[in-house]
Amino acid sequence: MSSTVLFQSDDHANILLPDQDAGEGVQSNQHLIVHGGEALLLDPGGTKLYPKVLKAVAQNKGKAKLTKIFLSHQDPDIVAAINGWLMTTDADAWLSALWRRFVPHFGSDRLVYERIRPIPDEGMKLDLGGSELVIVPAHFLHSVGNFHLYDPTSRILYTGDMGVSLGLDHREVTDFEAHIPNMEVFHTRYMSSNAAVRAWVAMVRKMDVQTIAPQHGAMLVGPEMVAKFLDWIEGLDVGIDAMPDVFKLPS
Ligand SMILES: [Fe+2]
Ligand SMILES: [Fe+2]
Repeated sequence: MSSTVLFQSDDHANILLPDQDAGEGVQSNQHLIVHGGEALLLDPGGTKLYPKVLKAVAQNKGKAKLTKIFLSHQDPDIVAAINGWLMTTDADAWLSALWRRFVPHFGSDRLVYERIRPIPDEGMKLDLGGSELVIVPAHFLHSVGNFHLYDPTSRILYTGDMGVSLGLDHREVTDFEAHIPNMEVFHTRYMSSNAAVRAWVAMVRKMDVQTIAPQHGAMLVGPEMVAKFLDWIEGLDVGIDAMPDVFKLPS
């Protein structure tokens, strides 16, 4: 699959990079935002993908320079190759302050540690070549230190593991009801609690979101599809609410 341009204006582009073969690894999406002379890469993927994604970034960023990497949370399908990214580019990376000190276990060391910048619990704004991006809290969905990135220019909300679907070969959901089985098992188990989901839904409803772009599987495009997703996830029992009796000693 080639790269997909999700939004394009004179000085701004949102690009979903080509899908890469992760072997036994879960399929993952790598997104690029380009504005002015700068590019930001979201959730770059693990070491298996690193050379392929590095090449895809070079091919898709135009004349812009990769200056920023956003890490929604600490999982290997996001962070495992961060040492390579920091060693071979001039980009800084942003990750929850809660996870920063765990990253050196993936092999990054003193040379690059200072370039992993901590995101405070309340989130923050990030400037990309003169365009403002907003890092919004999404804690417990599923990681304890978890963030989504909102781009007000394209109105795309990049949601990491929220909204993901597995086992698909298309990039956009066309029939929401038919799509539910592709999402249900994952969200039921990987999202932590109904309270966290509902607080997140209430926040997102106050935002102007055109597209939900998850880190795995197909995007939800258009206000109607976004609203359907929010209604669905709000009513789904997840995490400890879906399995309240889990804490029993095994027989
Ligand atoms: Fe994850
Ligand atoms: Fe993931």
